[in-house]
Amino acid sequence: MTTPSRHSPYSASSPGTDPAAAPPPGCPAHQSSGFGRDGMRRLYGPEADQDLAGVYEKLRAEHGPVAPALLHNDVRVWAVLGHSENLHMVRTPSQYTRDSRVWSAVRDGTAGPDHPLAPVFSWQPMASFVEGAEHQRLRGAVTGAMAGLDHRGIRRHINRYSNKLLNDICETGEADLVSQFAEHLPMMVMLHVLGMPEDYSERMVQAARDMIKGTETAIASNAYVMEALTRHVVRRRAQPEEDFTSALIAQPAQLTDDEVAAHLRLVLIAAYEATANLIANVLRMVLTDPRFRAQLSGGQMTVPEAVEQSLWDEPPFSAMVGYFAKQDTQLGGQQIKAGDGLLLGIQPGNVDPVVRPDLSANMQGNRSHLAFSGGPHECPGQDIGRAIADTGVDALLMRLPDVELRVDERELSWRSSILSRHLVALPVQFGKRPPQDVTARPMSHVPTPRKHWEVTSPAPRPEVPAEAPQPVAPAAPAAEPAAPVRRKGAWRRFLEWWRGY
Ligand code: HEM
Repeated sequence: MTTPSRHSPYSASSPGTDPAAAPPPGCPAHQSSGFGRDGMRRLYGPEADQDLAGVYEKLRAEHGPVAPALLHNDVRVWAVLGHSENLHMVRTPSQYTRDSRVWSAVRDGTAGPDHPLAPVFSWQPMASFVEGAEHQRLRGAVTGAMAGLDHRGIRRHINRYSNKLLNDICETGEADLVSQFAEHLPMMVMLHVLGMPEDYSERMVQAARDMIKGTETAIASNAYVMEALTRHVVRRRAQPEEDFTSALIAQPAQLTDDEVAAHLRLVLIAAYEATANLIANVLRMVLTDPRFRAQLSGGQMTVPEAVEQSLWDEPPFSAMVGYFAKQDTQLGGQQIKAGDGLLLGIQPGNVDPVVRPDLSANMQGNRSHLAFSGGPHECPGQDIGRAIADTGVDALLMRLPDVELRVDERELSWRSSILSRHLVALPVQFGKRPPQDVTARPMSHVPTPRKHWEVTSPAPRPEVPAEAPQPVAPAAPAAEPAAPVRRKGAWRRFLEWWRGY
């Protein structure tokens, strides 16, 4: 690793890239070679599209844990590549903020509303863009509403929705687990959590995917999703029920209808995109990675452990744009100026050789990856995301224990951007089998014996506090989990009866 450069990408001077690696400014190779202005490496364009992780490693070798780089339109940014540098940044709100209005590129218009990444960095009155007391008010409302969720009930629904999706494919003997499972399950679950399961449709799934892909139709898709959410807020303001939306409205923060709708959108889209990626990644890993095959057949590796390993190796969000310096400071040996933009490097931070000298070593029991970020903005929905992935994958492996990849692993392809990396398709085959009754009391069916997959969910851990989300319940026990359940109120018992439990 070369000595980290001390040049600021925001200064007029040369950014300090390794002259042997970077062509000089004015070189005709610039436009096509992955280098942009001042000879700085681009995090977009053909080279990055092909192998962004490789670009990060070159940056790490040239500059150390914090490297100058270019976003689309050659907007300068610091790529934070080190694990501890990323953690320091997210945990130091006195120096770094998520409020993009302080970003000099936004102020001088180089990162304007027409920038391809504008949908993710344009400031909005939401928890993710505010700090201090306002952040506490908005985030407190979200976490307060989450605290009231019945996590055990949610897992039963995840299991039920998984089995619904599996019923659609089980008689065919083959399927694409990305478009027919991973991309649907989180939407079904999240709409249920928000209290609007009737809004689940193919159109809603497509709209959510479209919004985050930044296509020409993204604005129309956003309008479609917002219309459904706004209608739902009005409905629940008039008549509350036992769901996340009603709980959010009832929080002491007294959110306006617009604030409630904006946070429902934040929760729905953050959860949908990340969890769909996570499920696809875990399924691919479980189907193809010899480490898991070996461990799974030896009965060692649980699905939650496979999920955690995937959060290290293929985090659902690979980076976030971003954090912004509130004052002149130093990070990873670089001089950061007030107003500089910094990329939260989740994927490069997770493979930082300082914390992972051997990438093939499994990370069992170690949850210190950056997949959910950290500090005041750390993802508050991580237990729900984990539960959807754990329970969904477990249900799938139990219903289709003979599932295997239908193509050579090398034929799998990904669509990448700075923000995330999606598996395009995961074609599989399995023995045909009849559908299962999903209207029966959830989790009361007799499990199919697992022949090839020795995958188990862990037993509930005693140290988890009563109010915290419980670990994933075994996917198909013959009876309800034995852990004590709080006595439900008459209204909840009535609702459960009404909904068919
Ligand atoms: C595997 C699934 C998920 C992953 C990998 C993930 C990851 C993240 C990351 C990296 C952030 C940004 C933190 C920052 O700004 O530094 C975030 C924020 C957030 N996530 Fe998640 N997330 C997931 C699932 C969910 C779910 C299921 C929910 C809701 C039920 C959720 C709700 C949120 C919210 C509300 C924020 C904004 C928090 C704030 O700014 O204070 N996420 N998530």
